[in-house]
Amino acid sequence: MTVTTAIYENWRNIASARVEFSPGINVLWGMNAQGKSNILEGIYFFARGRSFRGAREKELVRFGSEFARASLSFRRDGYENDTALEAVLPLSGRKRLTRNGAPLSSAAEMVGNFRAVLFTPSNLSVVSGGPGERRAFLDIALSQISGDYLLWLRRWTKLLAERNALIRRAGEGESVSAEEWAVYAEGLAECGAWIACYRADYVSLLAGAVGRYFAGMTGGAEIPGLEYRSHALEETSENLPKPLTDPRSLTSAPPDPGPLKTRLTAYRDREIAAGSTLWGIHKDDVLLSLNGREARTYASQGQQRSLVLSMKLGEAEIAKTVGGEYPVILLDDVFSELDENRRRFILDALAREDAAPRQIIVTSCEPDIIPGARAEHVNFRHVEGGKVSES
Ligand SMILES: Nc1ncnc2c1ncn2[C@@H]1O[C@H](COP(=O)(O)OP(=O)(O)OP(=O)(O)O)[C@@H](O)[C@H]1O
Ligand SMILES: [Mg+2]
Repeated sequence: MTVTTAIYENWRNIASARVEFSPGINVLWGMNAQGKSNILEGIYFFARGRSFRGAREKELVRFGSEFARASLSFRRDGYENDTALEAVLPLSGRKRLTRNGAPLSSAAEMVGNFRAVLFTPSNLSVVSGGPGERRAFLDIALSQISGDYLLWLRRWTKLLAERNALIRRAGEGESVSAEEWAVYAEGLAECGAWIACYRADYVSLLAGAVGRYFAGMTGGAEIPGLEYRSHALEETSENLPKPLTDPRSLTSAPPDPGPLKTRLTAYRDREIAAGSTLWGIHKDDVLLSLNGREARTYASQGQQRSLVLSMKLGEAEIAKTVGGEYPVILLDDVFSELDENRRRFILDALAREDAAPRQIIVTSCEPDIIPGARAEHVNFRHVEGGKVSES
């Protein structure tokens, strides 16, 4: 997938700009606070249906303007025509989204057309933050490649909220029948087993990709570990799903709901005392390590950045394996804190000529991130005061 053109009007500090991108590597360079991240934000908006900074839509409107507008033309591999998505975000009133000029009813209808993987410095919380950050990484990545996963997740979320309400009512003395408890234990155990199975499988695919990036970056000096830890799977390794090459094949083998069902039945008194469901995939985690030590506690800034970056690049590779084409790779301020060797390896890996077609859009304060002859094939854009020029 390739972005051909992005157009901005009153989008953050960009009054008006039209940016052409080329396949391969694109570098948006310029000083701090000039609009580089704003440009990426305008592209990624069409992949997720909202800002990656968690900003409210009104914040995207340029100070003093009534609306913000962004449009994105992109082309799928093997297609001859572009698809155009457009968003108009007024300060007051409803936003308008269109696809090739035809109105879309919601952001949900837009998501799924354009696919991108984004690295931003705030993603470092995937390593340094709590388990929720790591589950969110998996949920976003898996939802993009598997509609079934999204359905299981939605069902889980609904059942969990209902069971928590039931637990609170039971805590207030209301009597709940054994049948009702059983319905929720069974429902959650089934959803939880599927979700855990998808996640564990995804993590093992990701571990392969991350391992390859680290081997290249550090010459084998740092060996990463990624392991999914779940309440919904037995703790013994024999019961963990086998690594697969394609997550789609998971749908053929229903996972065992037994372990979670047992937990959701045996410890109900503790759950009533606590006022919520204590066992399930909403508590799961991914153990990230380097050379056998937990990365969250022991990894340096550069190591943490390398780990998250490798996970994002791995996410793009898995999306390619499953969906047949690479998503657009957006890298915001990725190279600060990475030493020369790591930068060079990542850039070489991204620019590899034998790889399937890939588009990378990277922001940087300096233009000379790409050494030597390679730079001839790179599309440079200079960003200054919300204006974008060729150079
Ligand atoms: N709604 C808005 N209207 C006008 N300007 C805005 C708006 N929102 C943000 N800005 C400004 O946009 C400018 C550029 O922000 P951006 O994050 O794109 O910078 P950047 O080029 O990525 O810089 P850095 O290298 O520091 O990451 C900032 O100075 C910010 O104050
Ligand atoms: Mg920035």
